[in-house]
Amino acid sequence: MSFSNIAAAKFSQVFDKSDYQSLDPIVKAQHVQKGNNIVFGRSLKGEDYSNLIYIGKILENTIGRNYLSSDAWLDTTFPHVIYITGTRGSGKSFDLGVLIEGISALSESSPIQNQVEPITSILIDTQSQFWTLKYKPNPNIRQNKAQLDELADWNIASNSLKNCRLFVPPKSETITGDEVEFKLQTNQIKHEEWCALIREDTYGPQGHVLAKTMEKLAGRNYSLEDILTFIGSPSNWPGTVESTRNAVLYKLDDYRRTGLFSNTGISVRSLLSPGQCNVFLLRDLRNEDKALVTGVIARQLFTEMGSYHKRLKVKNFFGRDSIEDDMPSKVWLLIDEAHVVAPNDAPSPARQALVEYVKRGRDAGLSLVMATQQPSAVDDRILSQVNLTLSHRLSFQADITAAVNRIPTKLLSAFKMQGIDVRDFGDMLRLLEAGQCFIGDHNTSRTVLMKVRPRITSHGGYSPV
Ligand SMILES: Nc1ncnc2c1ncn2[C@@H]1O[C@H](COP(=O)(O)OP(=O)(O)OP(=O)(O)O)[C@@H](O)[C@H]1O
Ligand SMILES: [Mg+2]
Repeated sequence: MSFSNIAAAKFSQVFDKSDYQSLDPIVKAQHVQKGNNIVFGRSLKGEDYSNLIYIGKILENTIGRNYLSSDAWLDTTFPHVIYITGTRGSGKSFDLGVLIEGISALSESSPIQNQVEPITSILIDTQSQFWTLKYKPNPNIRQNKAQLDELADWNIASNSLKNCRLFVPPKSETITGDEVEFKLQTNQIKHEEWCALIREDTYGPQGHVLAKTMEKLAGRNYSLEDILTFIGSPSNWPGTVESTRNAVLYKLDDYRRTGLFSNTGISVRSLLSPGQCNVFLLRDLRNEDKALVTGVIARQLFTEMGSYHKRLKVKNFFGRDSIEDDMPSKVWLLIDEAHVVAPNDAPSPARQALVEYVKRGRDAGLSLVMATQQPSAVDDRILSQVNLTLSHRLSFQADITAAVNRIPTKLLSAFKMQGIDVRDFGDMLRLLEAGQCFIGDHNTSRTVLMKVRPRITSHGGYSPV
């Protein structure tokens, strides 16, 4: 079923039995009798079910009222901080695709969107696999053919993103040929970000050289060459050991060669077109550069969107006409392989910006989605605001413990599988197959087992054969 009244747009039942029999009732959930839908991430009460995106079906036989095969929706009215965890190949990148398809402007209208006002998104694609969002699955590729067959089983038509732009760093291999090259504006990189980039302490000798340089160059649109020239001039450095300066010079010169920095870098404002999806294909960058790009984008996002929402509040208060119809009211930032960008064991150029982003995000209409195969390796402060989790198969206890710590509701206490009781939630996670996960949100009384729906655009993350 679905929210649609049009018979052709109703999703198939897909399955009428499940291997998983839960032994714990769901005492609280936003279940909508009509159409058998269950809504996650929704704090609103009432009958207005707009801005819902279709994410899958409930996969458990629930004790008490059975929710098996109910359609699962995610509310996108208010900002979320979503944490997706799971081992390799468990379905995390697939989920990111499902979420982006739900929030973006699509080429053709689709029942996976229930009165959705498209949301602008920025995707940090660490593996450069999401360029396929622009395309329908290609029946000539075996894995895409399987995807099309699955879509037919669910009675969902394939689709493509209407407005998806691809960005690549300089010297990166292009894939589709319509990627846009981006650079970072040198004078927007903060002192602590430079230090994290060259792996030096902000208060150490090399950190001091950078601090003094930036202080002297402040107020100008300086380039990386200007920084190198300033550090390289002995007259600027009475009393500073030459080897310290040289160490900074060597490291920064390495960055000059990447071509990543320029006087005219990317402006996030130019990405903020309502409903547009912006994919940053970053596979060819080093991990710390991936983090820096993410940090710069996150910081610009909360600055731009924060001040826009402030202006909007004032305008609404005084009943003035809008002057900025081209700004989106909501933006989602999605990060695949979040442990690469925001590790908890090393300084990262993205840390400070992401911590601020999640803290200020709610007032600025900003959501964050992070996916990782190493939940124990992601920065805790960024995770502190998580309000919704998708937990896929995990194996290692440390990862299970870290993932479970972030689930914002009670865990399912037990399920029966093939007649055997499984009472440990970690063991339940170990049993899941690709595309199956527990969804946790604080509006639902416990984690619920679901099967994520098939992708409507081509999934680019399948394993090579
Ligand atoms: N909801 C789903 N429906 C059908 N197949 C799925 C689903 N989710 C994942 N899969 C299958 O599992 C494969 C791996 O999924 P995905 O690329 O999302 O893994 P991942 O968790 O991101 O792994 P990695 O950590 O290696 O990036 C997909 O190529 C697809 O074949
Ligand atoms: Mg992946």
